[in-house]
Amino acid sequence: MFPTGRTGCGDVNEGHIGQGELRFSGWVFRRRDHGGLIFIDLRDRSGILQVVFNPEVAPEAHSLAHGLRAEYVVEVSGKLGRRPEGTENPGIPTGGVELYAGSLAILNESAPLPFSLEDQDTSEALKLRYRYLDLRSPQMQKNLFLRHRAVKAIRDYLDSESFIEIETPMLTKSTPEGARDYLVPSRVNPGFFYALPQSPQLFKQILMVSGYERYFQVARCFRDEDLRADRQPEFTQIDMETSFLDSEDIIRITEGMLARAFKETRGEDIPMPFPRLTYNEAMERFGSDKPDMRFGLELADMAGPARKSTFKVFLDALEKGGRVMGLRGIGMSGLSRKEVDDLTNSVKEMGAKGLAWIKLKNGFDSPIAKFFPKEAMEEMAESLHAQDGDMMLFVADTQKVVHNTLGRLRAQLGKKLGLIEEGWRPLWVTDFPLLEWDDEEERFTAVHHPFTSPADADVEHILAGDINDKALLSSLTAKAYDIVLNGYEIGGGSIRIHRQDVQSRMFEMLGISREDAQKKFGFLLDALQFGAPPHGGLALGLDRLVMLLCGADSIRDVIAFPKTSKAFDMMSGAPSAVEPKQLRELHIKLDIPLDENL
Ligand code: AMO
Ligand code: AMP
Repeated sequence: MFPTGRTGCGDVNEGHIGQGELRFSGWVFRRRDHGGLIFIDLRDRSGILQVVFNPEVAPEAHSLAHGLRAEYVVEVSGKLGRRPEGTENPGIPTGGVELYAGSLAILNESAPLPFSLEDQDTSEALKLRYRYLDLRSPQMQKNLFLRHRAVKAIRDYLDSESFIEIETPMLTKSTPEGARDYLVPSRVNPGFFYALPQSPQLFKQILMVSGYERYFQVARCFRDEDLRADRQPEFTQIDMETSFLDSEDIIRITEGMLARAFKETRGEDIPMPFPRLTYNEAMERFGSDKPDMRFGLELADMAGPARKSTFKVFLDALEKGGRVMGLRGIGMSGLSRKEVDDLTNSVKEMGAKGLAWIKLKNGFDSPIAKFFPKEAMEEMAESLHAQDGDMMLFVADTQKVVHNTLGRLRAQLGKKLGLIEEGWRPLWVTDFPLLEWDDEEERFTAVHHPFTSPADADVEHILAGDINDKALLSSLTAKAYDIVLNGYEIGGGSIRIHRQDVQSRMFEMLGISREDAQKKFGFLLDALQFGAPPHGGLALGLDRLVMLLCGADSIRDVIAFPKTSKAFDMMSGAPSAVEPKQLRELHIKLDIPLDENL
């Protein structure tokens, strides 16, 4: 493992016995004093090796070993031997051997640790505060090694597909990806700000205009948004862009790239080609544009039977152009009153007005059963494949709320009911809508981003049609595709607009005035005039991919120095107050007292 004279603790085996003196450096992981013999588990990044100090063989080393404590840094030399019968440890690769120390040097001492590296219950806050210690744990090291292997596999693959890696600026103008920007004030241009890139989107498109044809970058992106287990304020994309290729080519390249990453990191083959669903199908069947395909449990439309009922909640929703849909609660007919209330409350928190339900217990059991003829309930049970012992769950509302709440409920039930099967279930979601009405802003926004091309058939509609025609704008389809793995959106991309007239029209549809478009994106609009090739690409969320490859629950476990959900770096203490002088240089005045900010 190490090119120098040092051997890795985890790299030795029976084959090294009788090979003379071996030298190891590392950390004291555990120490056991057995009166006569002292044992330490020596750890370096390659693994763990048991070292034995014997007062009769090496008295000097033995007496020094008395002073060893957890996480002291040492160098040990000695000969490797087989462990006495019955003392082997099959739990570690070096469990059949041990090192008989001849000499010991203490390279550095360690203060007592704030937590044990082996304690599974240490709070995340404490681990993040002492991240350098947490990063010593074999699990974290495994994760970061895997991350390295994945990036290496992806780089090699993209290189073999003629992609070149080009860096784009960090201090830049904002690219809208739907989040708030992180801003950086410019000292030499008082009152002016850079934005940290939410993605290198515009630069990669410009590189296509410049003729590079296939670009990639392991790109850091910055987004000031609400954080969760799979969202960090700064994260990494495998960012790609190509010219002259269509979405099929980009899909093929991406599948090849993921297959390579799986093979190189886990030695597994993933099933190719990946299945596909259109956005509409995904929403209708799973209530989500990132459905977990490791289990079934599909939503079903209940409009037919709902119309046969006198249940006002359902009839009102349909009357208003909304939907009534249901989900099968497998084996849930035994839920207590309180459990049903909890379920209802969780669905309400997701945005539904309530949760209607019918239990199947030798017939139909529900406070709302009286509103339904028996045949309507039988019809519902049939569409949901519900059987005796199940519970049927319904939400009535606008289509958006129904899809969203039942989709989230489906994901919850998948976990709770143990429906999730082992394995990798990648999926492409295609044919996204181009635009989405935003009630708050009272304008359309881009579902993907404003540079995504409409479907070919829609381009003429857009150029010729009325941009105030809400029905037209709602009906447009984008040439966009997302890649989903086990319920996570791990990437997304699109074919871009390469015609300046279409791009200008797109800004108009988004309610961005001509002057504003010129101010914000003038450089792109200018570039599109000078022979821009047809182009498109994709960005993979590297952190999410590696999290899945590692079997971790949070991307924090695959990022060396992550931030908390309040975007705080517990180790370095960023963000922090700055010197008044620094603010003065930037011509910035805070409207909160400085000492409060400290
Ligand atoms: P998008 O915004 O979909 O597309 O981002 C691509 C992928 O990046 C990951 N991702 C994140 N990962 C961790 N933390 C975050 N805050 C975060 N936000 C996004 C997701 C997502 O699928 N420029 C376009 C790509 C393109 O069109 O080529 C873009 O950035 O896995
Ligand atoms: P109510 O008529 O408000 O007493 O509601 C009767 C049942 O229908 C309760 O179980 C509610 O949780 C449920 N309910 C209310 N609104 C909705 C809705 N929009 N969709 C599904 N169920 C609902």
